[in-house]
Amino acid sequence: MNVSAIRAEHVYKVFGRRSQEAVKRLRAGKTREEVKPLGTAAVIDASFEVAKGETFVVMGLSGSGKSTLIRMLNGLLPPSSGRIEVDGADIAGVSAGELRQIRRKKISMVFQHFALLPHRTVLDNAAYPLEIQGVGAAERREKAAEALQLTGLAGWEDSLPSQLSGGMRQRVGLARALAADTDILLMDEAFSALDPLIRREMQDQLVELQATLGKTIVFITHDLNEAMYLGDRIAVMRAGRIVQIGTAEEILTHPADEYVTQFVADVDRSRVLTAGSLMRRPMVTIQAGAGPAVALRELRDGHASAGYVIDRRRVLQGSVYDDELLAAHRAGATTLEGLVHPDTTAVRVETPLSEMFAPAAEARLPLAVLDDGGRLVGVVPRVALLEAMAPSTSADSAVSAASPDDGESVLAGAAGTPGAGEATTTEGTSSAGGPIAVGRSGASEGGER
Ligand SMILES: Nc1ncnc2c1ncn2[C@@H]1O[C@H](COP(=O)(O)OP(=O)(O)OP(=O)(O)O)[C@@H](O)[C@H]1O
Ligand SMILES: [Mg+2]
Repeated sequence: MNVSAIRAEHVYKVFGRRSQEAVKRLRAGKTREEVKPLGTAAVIDASFEVAKGETFVVMGLSGSGKSTLIRMLNGLLPPSSGRIEVDGADIAGVSAGELRQIRRKKISMVFQHFALLPHRTVLDNAAYPLEIQGVGAAERREKAAEALQLTGLAGWEDSLPSQLSGGMRQRVGLARALAADTDILLMDEAFSALDPLIRREMQDQLVELQATLGKTIVFITHDLNEAMYLGDRIAVMRAGRIVQIGTAEEILTHPADEYVTQFVADVDRSRVLTAGSLMRRPMVTIQAGAGPAVALRELRDGHASAGYVIDRRRVLQGSVYDDELLAAHRAGATTLEGLVHPDTTAVRVETPLSEMFAPAAEARLPLAVLDDGGRLVGVVPRVALLEAMAPSTSADSAVSAASPDDGESVLAGAAGTPGAGEATTTEGTSSAGGPIAVGRSGASEGGER
């Protein structure tokens, strides 16, 4: 995963006869406008790496240089200055023949309006790049059929493009790129011409495909929601420059400048923010080996009416409620047996906000957030979900999620019964001693990369 598939170093592209002079001046600090008389600076000093298997999204307004950048990546356009490596090979340095080989064997491209050959069947259209590569008829039909299957077009092999909807035609474009079986896919606004529902379907499908195929994808879009949904990392371009590169969460929570802030202002946060970035430290956790008296004391100390029960490895066992604990305690119970309700609403660290509302509505406690091992690593109170949905104050609220112990007690305590406090005073001899250390200090934004 550490080897980069694509690497760009200080890449410039200026359209115009005096491009070299323009690059020189841009390097010296002149602006795009200042060098305008010398040419159009479409890409200015772009440096980035795309890891193998990564989906790298380039986003920016119209004219910001996205298409120019992607065309340089597959050698369709030579950079005015700078270096571009594909799989370690400097594509400016290779011969025309080698470049053709790289394009055929390593890189496929999908455009916004995919030009299908009208008189050929869907299957032959998908097989087209293989035909150019000189792959034999049987093999290319087999590979193309496989790619059509992957993109949900099985059964349409013998149809003509005119018989397909726009969305289906775009799928043929994707199938064609997949049939070529290159490691790198460059997709320039590949879904932008589709209507929203179909577009969303294609996005889901790409994510699904990516999970099994593990291609390196450079995906261009001016749609932030799409960028954030698809991208492992996102590069934001403005007027030829890359102004920020980061994960969706980094960009959302720490936009580099005012431009990015405005850009992300109307993003559908529910698809981007995850439980991991919203979670707080669980206030009250109770060891599975404790008895009702100890549990009640923990609840009292935490001003909560319910708490999560964990085992020694912090694996979540369920939750306990003060009223039941109290009754059991009065009845002389000394263990939590029969008092621990299994938790059915827990979410995972990577669960997106959009999938947390339903469980949150059901949960009596703040949502438990579990890691891969089922360990309790944090909780998300309902207020945190609501805060996260508010766009403008969002940067604050998302960051404040890192602050440890607020919020949750409000919710958990709201249903509190006064009895709990009294009861615990009857028994002060717990050996567990003090509040059990809870949460990890790192309960902050995402924590990926
Ligand atoms: N072949 C060309 N000759 C001259 N100027 C060009 C050429 N291609 C692009 N440009 C200019 O370079 C700038 C960046 O264009 P580019 O097509 O890369 O933007 P983009 O981000 O892809 O925009 P869009 O979202 O509209 O596709 C624009 O100002 C454009 O006019
Ligand atoms: Mg473009």
